[in-house]
Amino acid sequence: MDKIIIEGGNPLKGTVKISGAKNAALPAIAACLLTGGWHHLDNVPHLKDIVTIKSIMSKLGVAFRDKKGSLEVNSDNLNSYETPYELVKTMRASILLLGPLLARYGKARISLPGGCAIGARPINLHLKALSAMGVEMFLDQGYINAQADRLKGADIFFDTPTVTGTENIMMAAVTARGQTTLRNAAREPEIQDLINLLRSMGADIKGDGTDTIVINGIESLRPARHTIIPDRIEAGTFMIAATITRGDIEIESCRPQHLGALIEKLESAGAAIKTMGECISIKGPDTIESVDIRTTPFPGFPTDLQAQFMSLMCIAKGWSMIRETVFENRFIHVSELKRMGADIEINGSQALVKGKERLLPAPVMATDLRASASLILAGLAAEGGKTEVHRIYHLDRGYEFLEKKFKNLGATIWREKE
Ligand code: EPU
Repeated sequence: MDKIIIEGGNPLKGTVKISGAKNAALPAIAACLLTGGWHHLDNVPHLKDIVTIKSIMSKLGVAFRDKKGSLEVNSDNLNSYETPYELVKTMRASILLLGPLLARYGKARISLPGGCAIGARPINLHLKALSAMGVEMFLDQGYINAQADRLKGADIFFDTPTVTGTENIMMAAVTARGQTTLRNAAREPEIQDLINLLRSMGADIKGDGTDTIVINGIESLRPARHTIIPDRIEAGTFMIAATITRGDIEIESCRPQHLGALIEKLESAGAAIKTMGECISIKGPDTIESVDIRTTPFPGFPTDLQAQFMSLMCIAKGWSMIRETVFENRFIHVSELKRMGADIEINGSQALVKGKERLLPAPVMATDLRASASLILAGLAAEGGKTEVHRIYHLDRGYEFLEKKFKNLGATIWREKE
């Protein structure tokens, strides 16, 4: 297992280029199951989660061709409908294969993803929607066995907006008989990216950017060419990194319109931010002001940036209230930040952060992707020694070349074997 070591204190300077979005690439790759022929996806990031979904789909008989940043996918020779537990347990997003497998073959046997460090993360809303579309399901040996002759359109209301739930049902609906309406659907940019890809395949979808998506099922789709959107969470992580180190950086290949909530909060914290086309420049202030945040589905403040923003508030002037409303257990970074001298009090879904003058270097460890990123940011700010971040395989699931990118921005950071 690797660890990352950081000697903090250097203000970040220079330019960083953002990679393709993990959470857009995963459903895009899954969508290639919907029809045969070679699909061509550009801007696919090199990440552990991408390797995992490819391994699972290879077991189903899907062929892949990797070409420098692009991925070609072909599901002409599918020979299995079963996703193995050994792989699914390492990545919950495997549930994204359920919708497309049912749409194309009318059956699927998918290992049920278990709980995860940040919450129970049920998939009841995916299953309820599929059941409304005529799918029969039963559980056996931890696998969902699902079957339908041909999916039928339905009117579906999600109790709460679910990102992968919306994606799964959109993929199930594109070739279903009749019309499917998704109400209270998630509106994350990754949903729009999937809509664009499905449209390139020929799908009939309306409701872009809204919480009501209407899909008219069509008989057949065609292979598509599509470029994955830039990763807004990676871009946001670099914006917070610039602010926490009082640096001055340019972030290229990103979509500022996907980062509105974070930009507003960082400006309130004192950062000077300029956006131009696909570029953001950001300069951290001498004094970081305290700001309250509350995570909500898009366009609100993203839960996937809550941990990183908390690291910033640890060295802000005054008190900050951080409310997590999306996942019930997403404060696992708090006890590690406290080991670095942070003053944080948790009360249910709220964390009260009392800003300190500095964070102190320490060995730390995290059990989820974004929590690990928050510890890297804390390490970049902590002066006077080494911060060691253990179990960084979580980072490799979702950040492409992270320490290399930070090194290029002037950070003293490297990776070692444990
Ligand atoms: N929920 C249910 N029932 C369901 C589905 C969701 O109760 O059937 C609840 C969840 O428990 C949660 C809320 O709805 O409280 C929202 O969960 P959602 O389904 O939107 O999360 P997800 O689709 O499992 C995706 C991202 C996460 C990101 C969340 C929220 C992917 C592959 N994952 O997860 O990304 O945090 O949306 O934006 O797109 C990450 O990248 O680190 C990550 C965890």
